[in-house]
Amino acid sequence: MSNTVLIGAQWGDEGKGKIIDVLTARADIIVRYQGGSNAGHTVIADGARHVLRLVPSGILHEGKVCVIGNGVVMNPLDLIEEIRELRATGVEARGRLFISTRTQMVMLYHRALDQADEAARPADKKIGTTGRGIGPAYAAKVSRTGLRCGDMLAANFLDKVREQVEATNLRLAALHAAPLDADEIVAVYAKAKEDLAPYIIDTVPYLHDAQEAGKAILLEGAQGTMLDIDFGTYPFVTSSNPTAGGACVGSGLSPRSIDCVVGVVKAYTTRVGSGPFPTELFDDTGKLLASRGHEFGAVTGRPRRCGWYDAVVAQYARKINGIDFWALTKLDVLDECPEIKICVAYELDGRRITDIPAVVDDLARCKPVYETMSGWLEKTSDITSFDQLPEKAKAYVNRLMELSGAKLGILSIGPARESTILIGLQ
Ligand code: GDP
Ligand code: IMO
Ligand code: MG
Repeated sequence: MSNTVLIGAQWGDEGKGKIIDVLTARADIIVRYQGGSNAGHTVIADGARHVLRLVPSGILHEGKVCVIGNGVVMNPLDLIEEIRELRATGVEARGRLFISTRTQMVMLYHRALDQADEAARPADKKIGTTGRGIGPAYAAKVSRTGLRCGDMLAANFLDKVREQVEATNLRLAALHAAPLDADEIVAVYAKAKEDLAPYIIDTVPYLHDAQEAGKAILLEGAQGTMLDIDFGTYPFVTSSNPTAGGACVGSGLSPRSIDCVVGVVKAYTTRVGSGPFPTELFDDTGKLLASRGHEFGAVTGRPRRCGWYDAVVAQYARKINGIDFWALTKLDVLDECPEIKICVAYELDGRRITDIPAVVDDLARCKPVYETMSGWLEKTSDITSFDQLPEKAKAYVNRLMELSGAKLGILSIGPARESTILIGLQ
């Protein structure tokens, strides 16, 4: 496998973790390039369920190297916990997990700001963030007050932490939130520094040397295209670029080194948190998708909003990310639907449109234009080749691909590794 970027094409939780795990078999190095511990990537490997938040999902394959790139915002305490959890299941990250010296850190004070900011917003302005401090950490990065992993190794690191806690306390006071104890926080990071120091390296030369030595690199996106800070449903988005362009700025690999982009898309749609979602279902079908798909947040446990597949979103994602192949997941969840709808366009103020309006209030007014297909009402989770799919399921998948503008590379019909059919991507 050459260098591949894997992105989510909807609002996150498309099943990226599972597909990364499958593609890891063909890669040497797996790089997370954005987001933080707001992500929850579920991988079922050898019967055990793992939820990866910061560590690339490739870690579950022995011998593969994982990198946390500079585009990630890494919470040292969450990472230490995740490394510990992996160790408890027999997976050792030390020696094959590296963090960039340029990776920004999410600190306890970012988390406090995230939560205070959400609490202070009126109900209709709440983003519904994961409360993990992601927005404030990226805000610190661009306002040039962030602390990076390289800083953690320097002698004055703890002084800088204290300075930032004191500055944050002024902002927390303005949000009517309780102040933080600087001594306590400094002590926490004095310990974290010791734990994480062995993992921190300059990953730019590391990745470029690996590339020159012919290693295959898999770049793992978190979240999804519609949560992208630029292309998503702003302001109801995350604070980074999950789209394929983010893979280069978030890793230090050049755009010329990307050979293939895989877009992961569910056979229906889900969203967690606030913001417009044109194909959202509020009826029993929505409940059926939620229960058959176990649609609860992997990190926060929040119920996910469910709706039909949106081909307008998929086309938009194909264009922005330059998707070569789709990985279509969770087809099996639709097995009990007598009829299935696909959104092929929107109607906005009496006009039919096939682009995503940039202004969120316009998107909120969009009504989906549906095409209806009949369901197959048969179990699909046991099939081992595309040919074994019921004819109606084949017709549905083929129609989705036709409407979404790229080839089918992978079909997923269950959470386990084995429930995966490689099609275009051999
Ligand atoms: P990610 O954030 O994109 O990695 O996705 P999540 O892990 O948050 O959510 C996807 C959920 O669907 C997880 O619970 C997976 O185990 C599960 N899953 C992935 N692929 C399939 C599939 O093809 N069928 C079913 N039924 N579940 C799947
Ligand atoms: P994975 O990688 C689904 C959503 C939150 C909220 C918005 C902003 O598992 O697909 P943030 O905490 O990032 O500031 O929250 O983004 N969100 C996700 N939704 N999957 C995710 O990650 C998400 N990460 C953030 O629910 O609406
Ligand atoms: Mg997830």
